[in-house]
This record gives sequence, structure tokens and C-alpha cells, in this order.
Amino acid sequence: MKGIILAGGQGTRLYPLTLITSKQLLPVYNKPMIYYPLATLMQAGIREVLIISSPRDLPNFQKLLGNGGHLGLSIEYAEQESPNGIAEALIIGEEFIGGDSVALILGDNIFYGENMGPLLTKLGKHQEGAVVFGYEVKDPHRYGVVEFDDEGRAKRILEKPEEPPSSYAVTGLYFYDSDAPRKAKQLTPSSRNELEITDLNSLYLQQRQLSVELLGRGFAWLDTGTHEALSSASQYVQMLQERQGIEIACLEEISWKKGWISDEAFAFLANAAPASSYGEYLRRQTEFVALLR
Ligand code: DAU
Repeated sequence: MKGIILAGGQGTRLYPLTLITSKQLLPVYNKPMIYYPLATLMQAGIREVLIISSPRDLPNFQKLLGNGGHLGLSIEYAEQESPNGIAEALIIGEEFIGGDSVALILGDNIFYGENMGPLLTKLGKHQEGAVVFGYEVKDPHRYGVVEFDDEGRAKRILEKPEEPPSSYAVTGLYFYDSDAPRKAKQLTPSSRNELEITDLNSLYLQQRQLSVELLGRGFAWLDTGTHEALSSASQYVQMLQERQGIEIACLEEISWKKGWISDEAFAFLANAAPASSYGEYLRRQTEFVALLR
């Protein structure tokens, strides 16, 4: 399975923070935002990743993550000329996907939860149809929303409905089979002139090929869309990390624990990291490397 992170858009709701940089490079506590969705893909076992962003911002993502080799990954990059819709990512990424299945994640979506790892590992092996996630929120009208039938099965998905039929928002993490680029090409732009991801999911649903997994209370899906939400997400990450002494979305650690980089390579990265709390955390982990030897 391949992975795509869509990290374009203009970030207008975060103005002036986004005047000279991409929203998905802004800090969420102590890491650039894109670390979190990249960590999510890595937890699903995905090692081949395409990052899509605007022509202005793409070079900065390249500077940040390079070809991913140091993380045991292969990272490629592609431009989205203008924000023509989330589903366009699957068309831009068609060649990269190359007939494989694909996980698409929005670069501003942060997931956290104890069972996220096992769930993602299971879905990372997913090959047929599509899987999306429903998450209960108090303001569903801001999202894609799932309508359920009497038996609790997904009946429709509506994009930002004025009167939401449920409180289950569709999150920005989507698993698709290899047919997704072809289906995305069948879509027509919506009234806001975008290729809507909700239309693609509706197409899968009509063909009885969509399953909606509900994420319960044990999961956090954090919003980063406004100044308030971004600040709350930072505080959430800070609070958990300080309380537990762990790092959320520590890419080097995930890669090492997955066995994608050797003990030596991990120790090298840790020792090369500057003296920030992140660097100190990496170095603390190398004590486990020593123990394992
Ligand atoms: O976050 C989940 C929601 O994401 C879903 O519930 C909705 O169904 C889906 O339409 C989307 O809603 P948003 O209103 O959050 O979409 P937005 O236009 O803000 O774009 C989400 C992110 O994707 C944002 O960081 C910018 C990026 N993006 C968006 C578009 C439309 C791109 O990189 N390119 C694009 O063309």
C-alpha cells in the first residue's frame, strides 16, 4: 500500500501565520504539523509516501523530509497547482500509486489513540473497496457527515450539511483500493469548484464498496483549522508528552521500532539531533538500543 499526504491549500483561516509558510509546516507543540499524519501512515506500515503541496510550499517539505531514506522511507513530491479539491490528490498521484492500494491523509489531520496502531496495521493491508472513519463531533456541519440507516449502516455521506443527519464527521484519513484514481477522474467539480472527496466516497458507497469505521472515545482526532484549535492541539500534545514522558509522532522512533532502520542508524540520528527536548528524547531511547545489544 502507498501513502499520500495532501498538504496544499492556502491556510486562509490561519492568516497571518500562513502568509509565508504552509499550514502543514506550522508547529503542533514541538514538531511540524506534517510529522503527525506521516506518523499515522508509518503506523499503518506504509513506507512509500507522496507529499502533495502547492508550488510555493513544496520545496520546504523537501527540505524538511528529503527522500525519507534516513527514516527507512521513500518520499516523493508532487505539486498541486491550485486547491482543486482533495480528490485531485488521487489523480495527481495516479502514477505513484501505480495500481496499488492507497491511504490518503490530509496533512492537517492529527490522530492519537492507544488502539490506533493495531487498527492502522490492519487497514494497511486493506486491498478492496474503501474505508473511512466516523468520529463524533459537536459541530458536524463543518465536515463530511455520515447518515446511517435503521440498522446503523452508512446510507449517505454529505459534505458540510446545514442540518447534519448525525454527529459523525468523516475524518481526513481514507483507505482506497487501486481503483481510486480511475473513480476520481469520473468526478465533476462541486459548486465550490472542487473535486470533493465526499463525492468519491459516495461513489464507493453507491457501489457498496465503502465501509465506515467508527472511532470511539479512546481516539483523539484533533482539529488544527483555526488559531484556537491549533493552540488546543499543541496543548494536548504537550500535556500527554509531559505526563507520560513519551513523544507523539516521533518519526525516527517509529521507524526504528518497525525495524526499518538499524540500531546503529537510529543511534546516529539521535546523536546528531540538536539539544532540544526532542533530541534528548531520541538520545534517551538509544539507552534501549544499548540494552537490546
Ligand atoms: O478534515 C476532514 C474534512 O476534510 C472532511 O470531513 C471533509 O469531508 C473534507 O471535505 C475536508 O473538509 P475541510 O473543509 O477541512 O477541507 P479543506 O478545504 O479545509 O481542506 C482540508 C486540508 O486539505 C487543508 O489542510 C488543505 C488541504 N487541501 C484542500 C484542498 C481542497 C489541499 O491541499 N488541496 C485542496 O485542493
